[in-house]
Amino acid sequence: KHIGKIIDSDVIVIGTGIAGLYTALNIDEKYKVLLMSKAALDTNNSNLAQGGIAACVGPEDDFEAHYEDTLRAGAYYNHRENTRILIEEAPMHIEKLLKFGVHLDRDEHGKLLATREGGHSKRRVLHAKDATGKEIIRGLGEAVRKRNNIRVEENIFVIDILTEENKVLGVLAVKKWGEKAVYKGRAVVLATGGIGQIYKNTTNPLVATGDGIAMAYRGGVKVKDMEFIQFHPTAMYTDKPGQKFLISEAVRGEGAILRNVYREAFMEKYHPLKDLAPRDIVSRSIFTEMIRTEKPYVYLDITHKSAEFIRHRFPTIYERCLAEGIDMTKEWIPVAPAEHYVMGGIETDASGRTNIRGLYACGECACTGVHGANRLASNSLLEGLVFGGRVAEDIHGHMENAKPESLLISHIKKAGGNKNTIIDLEEIKGRLKNTMDQHVSIIRSEEGLKKAWREIEDIKAMLRMQEEESIPYYELLNMTTVALLIIEGALKRKDSLGGHYRLEKMEG
Ligand code: SIN
Repeated sequence: KHIGKIIDSDVIVIGTGIAGLYTALNIDEKYKVLLMSKAALDTNNSNLAQGGIAACVGPEDDFEAHYEDTLRAGAYYNHRENTRILIEEAPMHIEKLLKFGVHLDRDEHGKLLATREGGHSKRRVLHAKDATGKEIIRGLGEAVRKRNNIRVEENIFVIDILTEENKVLGVLAVKKWGEKAVYKGRAVVLATGGIGQIYKNTTNPLVATGDGIAMAYRGGVKVKDMEFIQFHPTAMYTDKPGQKFLISEAVRGEGAILRNVYREAFMEKYHPLKDLAPRDIVSRSIFTEMIRTEKPYVYLDITHKSAEFIRHRFPTIYERCLAEGIDMTKEWIPVAPAEHYVMGGIETDASGRTNIRGLYACGECACTGVHGANRLASNSLLEGLVFGGRVAEDIHGHMENAKPESLLISHIKKAGGNKNTIIDLEEIKGRLKNTMDQHVSIIRSEEGLKKAWREIEDIKAMLRMQEEESIPYYELLNMTTVALLIIEGALKRKDSLGGHYRLEKMEG
């Protein structure tokens, strides 16, 4: 129904964050790659990453320390072998990243500069001031545009993956304001990023609606560990719901202190690493202080550092705070936790393979297990590189055996129906976000989770009854799928661990 043309490629990569761009660039130029972005190429979480990319590249650091820090932050729930791969292959991929034209900060001798962030025992977070992701997406984006074998399609929404007998055939997608088309590929890579938009407060942009995870799940792909959600401790507080501006953990890495509204530096009450404790612990501590002081924020104080240092090291954050009327060189920044990252996702092996032949996943939408129950700061850009690189490598082997399949229109499930719907998608989205914020947030209870389950099931049933062929509709459907996966996982996991905290049973 309404299917337009069929477009052929060897490899389809969905998503243009660090994982998608880096995967595409690592695929041999003899293959035709189609790189799809739901919005503009640089509209993604990676582009917003501030603090940096963790990698053990200096003589002061060693693999063992990075490995141990990653496990400790992850509550020792991490997949050990994949975590080793993440850490030990990091220097090689950082080297390659630089070769693709990305510039990271260096000292006067040309040595890469590294900062600290929560949970790191050493300075190992490489950066480009406080806009590391922006520089990475700029550099990789330019490299992609120079490649003759990579075709970039922006503003294209992938509705579903197409499979047959446990093997991927391609995807069904719709160009904004256009008609649906089938895109054939011998390999398909999901690099679709996060899920933040299912929450009212998130650091994620509007595009982060969990599409890749939801379509994989619909297509029979295994999804795991969805209950582990990371709330970044320090998003700038405003009383307007929606995307929140991140105040990088690197600000604490350079000495900033969290204070409650009574001016107390409270983190020493909660953890020996104080303001640089792992992220889940800092977020819960802030949340506890917010409840105790009956205020929806705490403060971040870096005023003891020189104004010159702050302006030079954090130009983006400084300017943004100023635009909100806060001079961070003299005033404390009001901050509160906001949804930031999902540790779970599409289950993959060390080469990014899913249980469907030819279908790969990497970056935030994937679950290699390297983050355990709580991701160590700045390990996410690194994961995008290391496992994006490994996906590309595996695709080379796969392509030699994967013959182009014929794809019939009968492979395509009907993907929508009634256009004259009367449901208010924005209103329903608001209900979903409220439910997730209220019951499936930093602290969860059996009763709240059950309530949330019923509410989201209701929403999903309503959406199903009033099918509509529009991108906002498909997105909302994906959001309900992802929300239910999180709630299901959270209900099953009775004990607290990392980014999943149950009121009834505390950790340890
Ligand atoms: C930050 O700059 O605080 C974000 C880094 C991350 O999410 O790992």
